[in-house]
Amino acid sequence: MKISVIGGGSAYTPGLAEGLIAIHEEVPFKELCLMDIDEPKLETVGKIVKRVIAAQLPDVKVTTTTQRLDAIRGSAYVLCQIRVGGLPGRVLDEQIPLKHQVIGQETVGAGGIAMALRTIPVMLDIAADVSQHAPDAWIINYSNPSGMVAAALARHSDVKAVSICDVPIGIQEFVARAIGVNRKKVKLDYVGLNHLGWFRKIYVDGRNIMSMIRSMAATSNIAPLLPTDDEKTADEIEMAVRIFKQIGIIPSPYLQYYYLNRECLEKQLAADKTRGQVVQDIERELLEHFDQVAGDDAAELWKSRGGQWHSELMVSIISAIHNDKGEEFAVNVINNGCVPGMPDDACVEVPCIVDNRGARPLRVDRPEPDMLGLMQLVSACENLTVEAAVEGSYDKALRALNLNPLVPSLEVARQILDEYCTAHGNYMKLT
Ligand code: G6P
Ligand code: MN
Repeated sequence: MKISVIGGGSAYTPGLAEGLIAIHEEVPFKELCLMDIDEPKLETVGKIVKRVIAAQLPDVKVTTTTQRLDAIRGSAYVLCQIRVGGLPGRVLDEQIPLKHQVIGQETVGAGGIAMALRTIPVMLDIAADVSQHAPDAWIINYSNPSGMVAAALARHSDVKAVSICDVPIGIQEFVARAIGVNRKKVKLDYVGLNHLGWFRKIYVDGRNIMSMIRSMAATSNIAPLLPTDDEKTADEIEMAVRIFKQIGIIPSPYLQYYYLNRECLEKQLAADKTRGQVVQDIERELLEHFDQVAGDDAAELWKSRGGQWHSELMVSIISAIHNDKGEEFAVNVINNGCVPGMPDDACVEVPCIVDNRGARPLRVDRPEPDMLGLMQLVSACENLTVEAAVEGSYDKALRALNLNPLVPSLEVARQILDEYCTAHGNYMKLT
């Protein structure tokens, strides 16, 4: 059995390889093929992955290629973690809105729309290749914006696909650690869209422990219970706790841009670098480190890019499909009546049963009016964005930007969109 990774030159891939090693007994793959269009990165990361796999699974072959079809042919699972336009593209997505005093974020607001416009056409090309050359393969997608990619794949291709995000599993893990139980014991009443969701209730052994978490938040500082050395995570926890204390529901960290819009904007405007630029520094350092240790068996292998839950979620989903487990994970699916109040064709992020037929959503309670209103608005914006990406339509992209609650005016939307089109060149062709 062959597993391929499109975007395999990513700094996340060594962590992913570790996860794949951990599930090898459950998912006995014989070849891991890394595909990337960035040859130098592919070479560096390929060397590390070969070393990691050889140490644990000497019979597994690791191959690298710059040709997508070579990777896709013969694969049972095609893992996608692409970034169209690379990190420089992400930095433009963030910087351009900030020039207009609008939040600059990878997946949220204007930046998320721009990223979707670049990513969706490529993901649909990949899906068409999978459908033609490996029709039985599953696409497991981690490419952002994961929700809009899920919608595009569901509406415009016939591949078997699951589109994932590690925010829900991250919250599950945090709660499990804070109260000292195994993650699998924690069940989430989670509802939302990708990067726009709420954890309304949390069950451990069938008991809702939200009131306990609320009183923990009210009487003590939660942050020390969730130790992290990652600046982004620390900031996300602080902002999420701030919102949680006021609304009593645990928000996705990405909801800070909606609930605490002004505060986030002030912080972004005052910072020397956007998150994308910080990630560029992290990645440069990591790749240099990979290069240094690749030839030295005694050297410590790597500093992590983070994304521990990315790997764990990715491999757990593969195993759930492969072994027909029927395990529960929150992933991105077409609503089909599962969230009352949301249109049937909306793409939502909700708990799903994952088995060899893919991900099927579980019915959840109707969201409160404020949550539902925001979901409906952003979902409409996402639908328009997907249409704009598929049709290459400037007008639809403009309307999507204008509809987004983080974009204040049609004039600003037009300026941002025009600057995106100029800056991204061939990666964003709209007419
Ligand atoms: C979270 C999000 C992902 C995102 C990741 C890294 O896990 O769910 O969608 O890719 O963070 O974000 P960063 O800003 O470090 O690239
Ligand atoms: Mn995510």
